Parts: sequence; structure tokens; C-alpha cells
Amino acid sequence: MVSTRTLGAFALTHVVGEGGMGVVWAGQHVQQKLPVAVKLITAHGAGDPRFVDALRDEVRAVARLDHPGIVHILDQGTVSADDHRRYGGDLPLGSPWLAMELASGGCLSDRGRPLTWSGMKSLLAELLAALGHAHARGLVHRDLKPANVLVAGDADLRPGLKLTDFGIAHAASRFDADRSGDRETIVGTPRHMAPEQFRGSWRDYGPWTDLYALGAIAWELATGQPPFPGHDVVRLAFMHLNSQPVRPAGDLPVPEGFWPWVQTLLRKDPSSHFRRAADAAEQLAAIVEAGAPDADRTLSWRLGGGLGTTVDLSADASFAPTAEVDGTEADYAAPALPLGADGFRAWMVCP
Ligand SMILES: Nc1ncnc2c1ncn2[C@@H]1O[C@H](COP(=O)(O)OP(=O)(O)OP(=O)(O)O)[C@@H](O)[C@H]1O
Ligand SMILES: [Mg+2]
Repeated sequence: MVSTRTLGAFALTHVVGEGGMGVVWAGQHVQQKLPVAVKLITAHGAGDPRFVDALRDEVRAVARLDHPGIVHILDQGTVSADDHRRYGGDLPLGSPWLAMELASGGCLSDRGRPLTWSGMKSLLAELLAALGHAHARGLVHRDLKPANVLVAGDADLRPGLKLTDFGIAHAASRFDADRSGDRETIVGTPRHMAPEQFRGSWRDYGPWTDLYALGAIAWELATGQPPFPGHDVVRLAFMHLNSQPVRPAGDLPVPEGFWPWVQTLLRKDPSSHFRRAADAAEQLAAIVEAGAPDADRTLSWRLGGGLGTTVDLSADASFAPTAEVDGTEADYAAPALPLGADGFRAWMVCP
């Protein structure tokens, strides 16, 4: 399809995906003819100048990262009155946009293709290398999930896995704190969020926050299920804060040494985690292959965590859940979250 839309230096050709915060277009740099993806953030509140400022600062920091495992940011801007007049509803006035490297192989949550243990191990090692690069430069992703791991194919400029949406969750939480008077905020995707994120204790955030999310991805790759399944945000919060994931029965195609490794990533207390991505990578490489599956045994799950909706957990939300806990029907107390507290609002992307 030939495009009539241009945004900044970029022509937008077609929509490649949609997430909790907006729409992603494929296109190209008009002058250089380089393929690009342009993410247009249209979620409620995204046009607020405070969000635009927070996002601009975060994206500036992320644009300095230079690693093959992190999507390269090319430019950013907001939809001008001219753009909006020309293209109307497709480009809402004031919406921030980011132009970045195109990764046309979809994301990790789209992949249903089989993965051997060694394939899974190298995938995890690639993600750890990318995280290590960002962490060493003081940036924590805060919303690591399969939908934020893109796959660039051979036809793309830099093939391989790419972390995307670095800084977006942080911008959303800074904006929220700004408009609500520095109250605590929760921003992230509950299925992959670390306990300190559910507690809203942002002073405890660090590389281990992303390593926890990586543990949740690794668990899902190995078992076909997230460590704590379901969609009920409060139940997920309770489980991430209090429960140990239960390893499914059966013969899973990963070596025994995988389990203590992934359980270390998923520890509740940040101080007992691997402190750095490099520590986790070193231990991953050292997993003894004894008891490892045959090379041709594969994991072929489809990961969750794809499209999300942004929900606003405002003061009137009701939290009195009853749910299955480890297979038994049980009441559980709503966790000590800042949810539902007076005037508290949070941006969350549901799994
Ligand atoms: N740089 C890119 N190149 C190619 N496709 C992309 C790119 N960035 C995103 N996409 C596609 O757009 C889809 C939507 O991405 P988006 O980041 O908006 O949503 P999400 O990650 O599912 O949710 P969230 O809003 O929490 O980030 C992705 O699943 C992916 O398929
Ligand atoms: Mg995303």
C-alpha cells in the first residue's frame, strides 16, 4: 500500500501492531529509504505535555544506547496541528511518536515455533547481554515481557532479538507521579512484574527488577505457562508478592540445573537476586547439561503477554477477590498495595 501519511522525516505505510498505549506503523525514512517502525502513543493522557516531557527525557536516554539487542531509536516528536489536519483521527493532535529500527519478525509472544534447550539458552543469553548493556548505563526497562522482545529477521538491518519500549514505563510512572502529586505509581505488566513494582517501592528498582521479569519469561519458555497464570491483577499481585511458582508435573525439556537458576531470578527479595545481568548470564552458561534433554526435543509454547489494554486502577476499584491458589479454592487477603488508596491511580498493561 502506498502511503499518503508522513510524520517528521518518515512515511507511514501500514499498521504492524497495536498495544496498550497506541499503534505501531511500518514505514521508511523518506530521504534515506531506510525501513522504520513508528510508534504513536495515543493512550488516554499521552497528549498531556507532562507525559510528552517525561517520554522525551526517557527516550533521549534510551537513544544513547547502542547495542544490537536493543531497538535503535531514530527520532521522536509529537503530532502537529498540520499532521492532524491532514490525517485526522489516525494521528491525534499532540500524540507523541517514536521512530525506531524496524524488526519485522514480530515479537516473542507471536512465536509458536519450537525451541530446543540450547535455543532457549542462547535466547536468554542474548536478552541478558542487552539488559546488561542498558543496566551498566543506568537504565532499567521496567516492562520486560514477551511483547517487548522483537525479532528482526534476515531481511532487517540488524537481525536478532531486540528489546523495545525501554523507558516508556518509566515515563508513564513519572508522568503519573507528576499529575497525582508524587504519590506512588505502579506501571508495568502484572504477569511479569517484580514484587517491588507491585509494592510501588520505586526506590527498590534496579537491574534485579528486569531480571525478575526475565525469570518470568524463562519460566514460561520452559513450562508453557507463566509462573503465576491468570488475569486478575490483585491475584497476580498476591502471588508475585507471596507465592513460589509451582513447577508443573511431567518431564520438561530443560536440565535440572535450570530450576535453581530461574528460581533465583524469581526471588521476592531484591537483595537475594542476581545483582547484575552478567551474574545471571554466567550462571546460565554454567548450568550443567547432565540430564539435559535430547537436542531434538523442543519447547513449542506460545508465550502470552501480547496485546494489552491500559487500565486505570482508580480509587473506586473494588478489590475483594476469591480465587484459586495453588489449585485450592481459597480466600486471600488483598495484598498491601497502594491500589484503591485515596486518589491513587496507576497505569497497568494487563497480560
Ligand atoms: N520496532 C518495531 N518493528 C516492528 N514491529 C514492531 C516494532 N515495535 C512494535 N512492533 C509491533 O507492534 C506490536 C505492538 O507493540 P506495542 O509496543 O505497541 O504493544 P505491546 O508491547 O503489546 O504493549 P505495550 O503497550 O505494553 O508496549 C508489537 O507486538 C510488534 O508486533
Ligand atoms: Mg511494547
